[in-house]
Amino acid sequence: MHWTTDQSAPSVGQVVITKTRSPIRSNVGLKAVMAVTGILLALFLIAHMLGNLKVFTGETSFDHYAHWLRDIGTPLLPSTWYLWIQRTVLTVAVLAHIAAATVLALRARAARPVRYAHRKKVQGSYAARTMRWGGVIILLFVIYHILDLTTGHLNPQGDVSNPYGNVVADFAPERWYVTLFYTLAIVALGFHLRHGAFSAFRSLGQQSPKGELRARTAALVFAVVLCAGYLVVPFAVLTGLVS
Ligand code: HEM
Repeated sequence: MHWTTDQSAPSVGQVVITKTRSPIRSNVGLKAVMAVTGILLALFLIAHMLGNLKVFTGETSFDHYAHWLRDIGTPLLPSTWYLWIQRTVLTVAVLAHIAAATVLALRARAARPVRYAHRKKVQGSYAARTMRWGGVIILLFVIYHILDLTTGHLNPQGDVSNPYGNVVADFAPERWYVTLFYTLAIVALGFHLRHGAFSAFRSLGQQSPKGELRARTAALVFAVVLCAGYLVVPFAVLTGLVS
């Protein structure tokens, strides 16, 4: 039973029920949800980027790698079980990341003391807007990308047993607009990662101007390396380096 100083103490026999927020729903709890899910998603992005670079080792090797992905965990787990566990974890992480971001943004808006008079100004900070719209672009990209390179429905070859062929068909020079779309999405991902990584590194590192500069630099390097690692594949196909 709780009562605060501005409430009078309950008289004998009177029950006071106050709503206490569970720790995970506090702002700090939601930021922790964003950080943990963000780290999980970033780990996937690093692994996926390294896997994609195997395209430079040739068709047999890349397709072998893609088939191996379905067999991770065997014989302990039946084939594709690990992949489905990973897909479930990533989907839950994406949903939790979006839900926590939405609640935090709504709370920040509700906490604003005076509403802005003009519609033009109801925008929030530059970083908040970049993160929100960047997040929406990345989500739309991932949906398209799965229909393109995982299920093959939007791929010109669409042969699930030959991912190398799908990648080469996808980024062929005459389909330059696909490479352009991937580039825009990956650059949006880069900005999103830079801000996310900066927030994480700043919380973990020294709380000083020097610490902040280090966090900013590390986040920039991380985002640029990841973007370059992803972009090199479509551009290698576009320029005929991979065919
Ligand atoms: C140009 C860059 C990229 C290339 C060439 C690429 C390539 C591929 C390929 C070939 C697959 C199918 C793998 C398979 O089924 O064997 C795949 C799946 C996937 N990719 Fe990418 N990818 C790129 C960028 C990205 C980015 C930036 C993201 C996330 C933001 C992403 C997220 C995914 C996801 C979630 C899957 C489905 C994995 C699964 O089947 O569970 N990819 N990608």
